[in-house]
Amino acid sequence: MAFKLTINGKTHVIESEEDTPLLYVLRDELGLNGAKYGCGVGQCGACTVLREGAPLRSCIVPAASLSGHPITTLEGLRAPDGTLHALQKAFLAEQAGQCAYCIPGMILAAEALLRATPQPSEMEIRAALDSHLCRCGSHNRIVRAIQRAAKEVAG
Ligand code: FES
Repeated sequence: MAFKLTINGKTHVIESEEDTPLLYVLRDELGLNGAKYGCGVGQCGACTVLREGAPLRSCIVPAASLSGHPITTLEGLRAPDGTLHALQKAFLAEQAGQCAYCIPGMILAAEALLRATPQPSEMEIRAALDSHLCRCGSHNRIVRAIQRAAKEVAG
């Protein structure tokens, strides 16, 4: 079937099976590799994108169901001139990624958190990322990176 998807502000015409997950369309058809395949069953968070600003596990949601619901991927966080988003800068500054497989999903979950709660407590940050798995154990640096980004955005 053919349908339209708006990704990072650009509309694409997609042809895929009715039940093809968004993650496959992003990676295999659009070349957007920020979202990662981890578990494939909605449990690890590696494939997280934003649907109208809210975190979404793209491995379990059919792309065709998202027509009319703008999607943001990690690639869409940068400014048009290539400047990194405050969260991307903070994750680099705090060296929050070790293998970094989980980081795109973490950053997008953090983006949703900071939009809803610009100055989150450490508990709120940990709660927002609770369902995102990091096998390297970088959790403390990830929390520090989000705190750093929150401070930078606050000015
Ligand atoms: Fe989607 Fe794990 S790959 S939640």
